[in-house]
Amino acid sequence: MLPFTALAHPNIAFIKYWGNRSDALRLPANGSISMNLEGLETRTTVHFDASLPADKVKINGKIAGGMALARVRMMLEEVRHLAGIYLFARVASENNFPTGAGIASSASAFAALALAASQAAGMRPFPCAEDEVDSHLTAVLPEGQPFDLGALSRLARHGSGSACRSIPGGFVEWAAGSDDADSYAVSIAPPEHWDLVDCIAMISADRKQTGSTEGHAIAATSTLQHARVDDAPRRLGICRQAILNRDFATFAEIMEEDSNLMHAVMMSSHPPLFYWQPATLAVMQAVRAARAKGLPVCYTIDAGPNIHVICTQAAAEETAKLVGSISGVRDVRLAKVGGPARLVENPSTNPH
Ligand code: DP6
Repeated sequence: MLPFTALAHPNIAFIKYWGNRSDALRLPANGSISMNLEGLETRTTVHFDASLPADKVKINGKIAGGMALARVRMMLEEVRHLAGIYLFARVASENNFPTGAGIASSASAFAALALAASQAAGMRPFPCAEDEVDSHLTAVLPEGQPFDLGALSRLARHGSGSACRSIPGGFVEWAAGSDDADSYAVSIAPPEHWDLVDCIAMISADRKQTGSTEGHAIAATSTLQHARVDDAPRRLGICRQAILNRDFATFAEIMEEDSNLMHAVMMSSHPPLFYWQPATLAVMQAVRAARAKGLPVCYTIDAGPNIHVICTQAAAEETAKLVGSISGVRDVRLAKVGGPARLVENPSTNPH
């Protein structure tokens, strides 16, 4: 079989995914909304090869083992099952951003892997060019179900929940869904809809002590999680509409409320999870003070101390300067709104 290479961007959630109804299937407790991050990417090549005695996985040039290998193999197993093939695969994956830089690499990693592996296993066709990606293209799986963008997003979700949001482009919503079949992500607006920029303030590059997977598993031990989940449809509705209307003031308030709610759940879980550093709080306060003075900025924080400061393109320079001047911020990285996961145009590796 022939190798295929895919590219995917990480994403930053405005309305967060925290906690699962099913940890095994990564069925989220609530829906979420995000934007893809342009310029940051994972590129993954998958080759199902009859000469291999086992799956071989390289991540950033190093042979993978432990949990990373186990998670990749689980996805390869699912693809083999769906495509009805029985070959091991060679997988090589590279990020163009440092792991542990406060950007969720599992999202872009499993989105790129899902696309490359499914295509390499013959579950074609998906187009090469970004603007050709549309949901009308389908391939039929051996069991007769269509393999479309929704199915691809679902496959990515099984590897890492947030990865399902890195399949479609631009501004993306992942519906909690009622079961495995309808829990996948769709684009709600293309990248050019709104010129937002994520100024990522790097506060620590240390590996986080409690990863997202472990965090999701204890979310329900917080007495606040129920209230957060019950209220999620309201926050999703406000955030979706604010994006569609390009209404920054509403967008800013709901995004910060959602991030604060998730961190309140984290801090009140058993055991409690404290991800912030003093500089994280300093950035939160500086962002709110700057917004009160008229600068269109707001913040959101994932499961780590680094903080994502979202602003409009017009405010990006001033925002990056402000954030970079705060004591404890080591670096600021800027990312615009990114496109969907796509095959890398390379006629020698991606035949159509
Ligand atoms: C705080 O998708 O990384 O970034 O499914 O276990 O891989 P796994 O978790 P993951 O969780 C992301 C959590 C978050 C919020 C978000 O991105 O919505």
